[in-house]
Amino acid sequence: MNTKVTAPYSKLGALVNSMMKTKCVSHGSKREIDYFWNASHFGLDKVGIYQDLPEEVQNLILKLLTDHNLNESYFIEKMGMSYAAKMILLSESEEEKALYSAIACDEAIHLYEVKNFLNPGVEATYQGNGFLKFISDVAQTSAPKICQSVLQVSLEGHGMSYYSWLRTGCHDPYFKEVLGRIMQDEAAHHGSGVIIASQSEFNLTEKKELEEHLAYFGNLLNCTLFPIVVILEKVVGGFTPEQRIKVFKELEASRVNSEKLQGLSRLLSVSRLDEKVSSSLKTALTHAWGPEHCSAALSQMLTN
Ligand SMILES: [Fe+2]
Ligand SMILES: [Fe+2]
Repeated sequence: MNTKVTAPYSKLGALVNSMMKTKCVSHGSKREIDYFWNASHFGLDKVGIYQDLPEEVQNLILKLLTDHNLNESYFIEKMGMSYAAKMILLSESEEEKALYSAIACDEAIHLYEVKNFLNPGVEATYQGNGFLKFISDVAQTSAPKICQSVLQVSLEGHGMSYYSWLRTGCHDPYFKEVLGRIMQDEAAHHGSGVIIASQSEFNLTEKKELEEHLAYFGNLLNCTLFPIVVILEKVVGGFTPEQRIKVFKELEASRVNSEKLQGLSRLLSVSRLDEKVSSSLKTALTHAWGPEHCSAALSQMLTN
């Protein structure tokens, strides 16, 4: 999934760049400001520890969060391109092959749109990012109909609201335009996944795998606030468990996680996947983690 990048200024790189010039709305744009989203966008305006920091440290945290969002988007698009390539080869009809060929083209454009804003010289990485590892593992190992339900319906459906959230608070007009364009395309990708998944049938083994992935995805949605807390903690120099719980409380972890899980349940309902999974999974997807649970899970993650 993490295909290498050829040396800068290679002939092939120049050729693809020039092809993308005509396709990217962000052509010629680059990252000109340190941060694209302000503190209130992340809920940091309600976090006491953040508010007590000097302005330059607050701005550094916003910059690191912007780096994180851009890196994550870069890898999501890169994996989207690889996922579509897999599905082109495994398509069983002309229509499916054409669909995934069109999606692959969209994802390649999205990749280059985001790439325009990455900090030059900063190597993007998905090491340590559980969300990206999950996408990569499912895309690499699962059968097409599992991928369609997990990645195209659930993940791209979640991606639509994620990109919409990024777009709402983005104060770089060029990246805001990119996000608007990506959102439109992701809605179409998700829509095609809904059409396909609503007709999919799963045997017992497939159902078990589907449920495991959806349960895991639910857990990842409960970790939505982790990057904010990890970056804050890294800059401040470590939290006690009590401080960490307080930060999750101030970030309204229970409400945020509950909204994410409700969003996933809606996606399963729209695609009629909810009729194909067990009631125990549906119940599990209503368990939003509160601040204490988030803090314990993050501690465990950091010590692993
Ligand atoms: Fe995309
Ligand atoms: Fe997509």
